[in-house]
Amino acid sequence: MKRRSFLQCSGAALAAAPLMGTLRSARAEAPAAAPQRRVLPINRGWRYSPQPVAGFEARDFDDRAFERVVVPHSNKLLPWHGFDEHESQFVSSYRRRFKLPAGARGQRVFVDFEGVMTAATVWINGRKLGEYRGGYTPFSFELTADVDWTGPNVLAVSVDSTERADIPPFGDIVDYLTFGGIYREVALRIVPASGFIADFAAAPREVMSDRPGLDVHCEIDGAAEGASVEATLLDGERAIATARGPVSGGAAALALEQLAGIKRWGLDVPKLYRLQLRLWQGGRVVDQEERRIGFREARFTPDGFMLNGEVVKLRGLNRHQTYPFMGAAVAARGQRQDAITLKRQLKINIVRTSHYPQSRHFLDACDELGLLVLEEIPGWQHVGDVAWQALAIDNVERMVRRDRHHASIILWGVRINESRDFHDFYTRTNALARRLDPTRPTCGIRYFQESEFLEDVFTMNDFEFPLKAPNHSAYLNTEFVGHTFPTKSTDNAARLTEHMLRHARIHDQLASDPRYAGGLGWCAFDYNTHGNFGAGDHICYHGVSDIFREMKPAAGFYRSQCEPSDEVVLEPAFHWCTADDYQWLKQVMFCSNCEALRVYVGNQLIQEIAPDRAQFPHLRHPPFTIDLYKAANDTDRDLRVEGLMAGRVVIERRWSGKSVDRGFELRADTSELIADGADLTRVVFRVTDEFGELKPYATGAIELKLEGPATLIGDAPFALVGGLGAVWVRAGEQPGRVTLTARHPTLGKRSVVLALKPAVAELA
Ligand code: GAL
Repeated sequence: MKRRSFLQCSGAALAAAPLMGTLRSARAEAPAAAPQRRVLPINRGWRYSPQPVAGFEARDFDDRAFERVVVPHSNKLLPWHGFDEHESQFVSSYRRRFKLPAGARGQRVFVDFEGVMTAATVWINGRKLGEYRGGYTPFSFELTADVDWTGPNVLAVSVDSTERADIPPFGDIVDYLTFGGIYREVALRIVPASGFIADFAAAPREVMSDRPGLDVHCEIDGAAEGASVEATLLDGERAIATARGPVSGGAAALALEQLAGIKRWGLDVPKLYRLQLRLWQGGRVVDQEERRIGFREARFTPDGFMLNGEVVKLRGLNRHQTYPFMGAAVAARGQRQDAITLKRQLKINIVRTSHYPQSRHFLDACDELGLLVLEEIPGWQHVGDVAWQALAIDNVERMVRRDRHHASIILWGVRINESRDFHDFYTRTNALARRLDPTRPTCGIRYFQESEFLEDVFTMNDFEFPLKAPNHSAYLNTEFVGHTFPTKSTDNAARLTEHMLRHARIHDQLASDPRYAGGLGWCAFDYNTHGNFGAGDHICYHGVSDIFREMKPAAGFYRSQCEPSDEVVLEPAFHWCTADDYQWLKQVMFCSNCEALRVYVGNQLIQEIAPDRAQFPHLRHPPFTIDLYKAANDTDRDLRVEGLMAGRVVIERRWSGKSVDRGFELRADTSELIADGADLTRVVFRVTDEFGELKPYATGAIELKLEGPATLIGDAPFALVGGLGAVWVRAGEQPGRVTLTARHPTLGKRSVVLALKPAVAELA
């Protein structure tokens, strides 16, 4: 799909615009000219200096001493924990030369930044264009007046990655790190001077009928005299319907009516369509833009959250966008991988992009996978002065405009996470979100029930157990467990079991009352934080998975809540050991969606057990409990568990009782990368028992050797933690073959091979 253009600013009211379009059957007329919009990525070929450099913005500045880098770029690579958070808080300098393509003269040229942490001052050929403040939202500058149409041009960007109190989320303490750099993609956009499509919104309606409609509101930048806009809905390459309407007052409103054969977007079949807009002027198509949309009805009701007319209990987790070593500077594949992990491995149906808008690649993957999203503005407890609040309001606008086409997004979070009430401020954030997107409800993540309810859906972080009774119908609990029970993958069996239980108990209570729309646990992955939060090593160990995205036992609970037709799941809530702190053996727990489990110790059947409905009366797939105290209070005994459905064994797992490290595994998330200098894959290594199960206390320095056109991001050697570790391999700019070899001190070496495919050339 094409990149979206980022709107320069503020907009006409979508809701207020009259519907002027007319329905026509799928189009017959071919466009008279090829669309002229050109979006030219400029991610490669940046020069970087990790400090402010006097005069660096001048076109002829000699930047040979600058490092050559590719964005997404992190201003500083860091260890995965134990670093000083100030290490990435500095001002840095970036430069990018480019020559415009032939034929650009006479058009308008913009530069679009998808995300720069935390403030960016931009120059073109030595002329200052301005400063954009905000690390999570896209921004653009127009270059037209200052570009050289034939010669070299230089973009210069001074990136301020300090924690500036004038920019959300800063001004007080914050429980996460933002890191720094030009950490999302950049592109030049060349559009017709006579007028171009600045932004558009699509609002599906009557989605539950067999003839839904689609309202399209398009904003045009420029005079566009006598222009019209044509909207075409496509299923793949097949046009379904087209409408065309005049541009008036810088906008066009169109309606596609009575659409036949539309399939709804759902969790199992997330059907997406393409909406293509063409701007016609003087009998020619002068501009074209496209977005993917979906048709679905998402409603919060007293009976719960309903998707396409069916109640779906929301079972989710919060996600921070940061990764070990690189912070947030992770290219598309890494972003998409997180969505895959959440949907396919953790089996959740909703994710909250805590606490800010996240990468478009992540959201695209959520659309494609059928993973619902609650997206919110940047902020954490603190609300600053009027200027600060104006930035937060601007964040609402940029978030909604950037993302309102995503079928996966069902809620806009328009409050600063866990802040006090601010009547005027939050009245404005709500009104703005509703005006820009009348199709989705607002919410605001609060920490006390009595807070003023200005939003459409009541959302609250409730860390207590039992949870508070819902004080509104359609009540979504947006955070629980988290700091109340941090758990490391190296913790003992009793703590790991309790961690899982706390998530399970909350979901059981959420399932007990239809007024709870569901809940999102804190959180999916351990994350880097400030020194005054977390475990004293700059990590909050609040994830059900670790910072490398490897599961802890609590992840097994989320996994086990899927239907067996999706995947048969059997996960232990412990690491198998029969002697250490053995009281826990009285309550050994498994998470499974099987009907029964048969538990064997040392090949002797101890018991066939049923789901623990006494403890979890409301869960569809309760965890299983067994007392192995007597049976297992002995060393050197393997544990074997069979999962049964309709009396048949459908899954079996074994854990060794020998307490010996036997296996060493190395696994990459993909075997193919694009040689664009940014594409990357995680590579995980684990020490296992003879059955392939993790040995959580295995240590050892893993030597890593990378051969070929790529770089290793991570510790090398890597000291195992929780019996495992991970590094990332980032593609270079040359195609070829890359081999990563990992050597364990006693278990030998393993290799993975990656093929690097040629990338599309970029503007030089
Ligand atoms: C919440 C906060 C999260 C995180 C969490 C830890 O209060 O919203 O960002 O700090 O606590 O449990």
